[in-house]
Amino acid sequence: MAKPKARVAGALTARRADRHALYQMSVQEPGVDLDVVDMVYKRANGRLPVRLREDFCGTALTASCFVRRRAGNIAVGVDLDPEPIAWGRAHIVPALTPEQAKRLTVLRGDVRGERARKAGPFDVVLAFNFSYWIFRQRSVLRGYFEQVRAALGKGGVFFLDCMAGSDVMVEQQERTRKKGFVYVWDQRRYDPLTGSLTCAISFEFADGSRIKDAFVYQWRLWTVSELRDVLADAGFATVEAYVEKEDKKGNGTGEYAKRESAPADRCLLTYLVARG
Ligand SMILES: C[S@@+](CC[C@H](N)C(=O)[O-])C[C@H]1O[C@@H](n2cnc3c(N)ncnc32)[C@H](O)[C@@H]1O
Repeated sequence: MAKPKARVAGALTARRADRHALYQMSVQEPGVDLDVVDMVYKRANGRLPVRLREDFCGTALTASCFVRRRAGNIAVGVDLDPEPIAWGRAHIVPALTPEQAKRLTVLRGDVRGERARKAGPFDVVLAFNFSYWIFRQRSVLRGYFEQVRAALGKGGVFFLDCMAGSDVMVEQQERTRKKGFVYVWDQRRYDPLTGSLTCAISFEFADGSRIKDAFVYQWRLWTVSELRDVLADAGFATVEAYVEKEDKKGNGTGEYAKRESAPADRCLLTYLVARG
C-alpha cells in the first residue's frame, strides 16, 4: 500500500497556496537587486537613484520596495497582464503607507509603449528575471532597448539580469526546498538551432498536491555577448557585467563586483549594466 502523504494541520497545499506569493519566495530578492542598483548608480552619479521604472513588473514587488527604501523615491511598474497587477494592488499596495503608495504607479501596457517612455525620465530602468527574453527577434529586442534608452535621464542606467553558462542549454528540472513547499524550475525545451527556450515553474506540497506550470515562459535564450552587441546597437555606450562574489568555499556572499571575464561556469547569474 502506498505510504500516506504527510498531513500537517495548517500546512500549505495547492488549494491553499497563492502562486504569486510562492513565486516571490522562490525567485525574487528585491533587496539584493536594489542594493546593486543603488551601488552602481551612486558610483556613476555620486547620488542614489530617485526615479525607477520596473519593466515586466508583474506584481510590482520591486517597485514597491523602491518607494519604501527612501522617502522621495518614485517608481513606475509596467506590465501587460492585468492579473498580477491586480494581485499587487490587493496584496502589496496595502502594506505601503498612503504617502508611499502615492509614489508608486503601475501602468498596464507594453514596456515598449509610449506611456512607459513618457512616464520618464528615469534614473534607472530594471528588466529582471530574464523577462526581456520574451523578445525573440534581434530587431524587436533592439527596439525595446532603444525605448529604454530614450526613457533614461542624464546619467541613467539600465539594469537587466542574465542567466549564462552551459546549464542553461540543458533540458532539466531543479527542485529547491522552501519553507512549506518545493519550488521546481523546469527547463523544459531548448532548441539549439533557434535558441528557443521553454521554462516553467511548478510548486509541490507535503500532502502530495502541486501547482503544475504555475508560470510558463516561451523565451529565446540570449547570451551575454549577444546582449552586449544588441545594447551597443541600441546606442548604449558601455555595458558592464556584475557577478556575485564568492567566499573560499565557493558560496555566494551577496556582494557583487564588476567582471571583465569569468571562468567557465555551469550557471552564472549576472547583472548587465548599460549606460550612455
Ligand atoms: C517573468 S515575469 C517577471 C515578474 C517580475 N518582474 C520578476 O522580476 O520576477 C514576466 C512578466 O512580463 C510581462 N510581460 C511580458 N511581455 C510584456 C511586454 N511586452 N510588456 C510588458 N509586460 C510584459 C508578463 O505579463 C509577466 O508578468
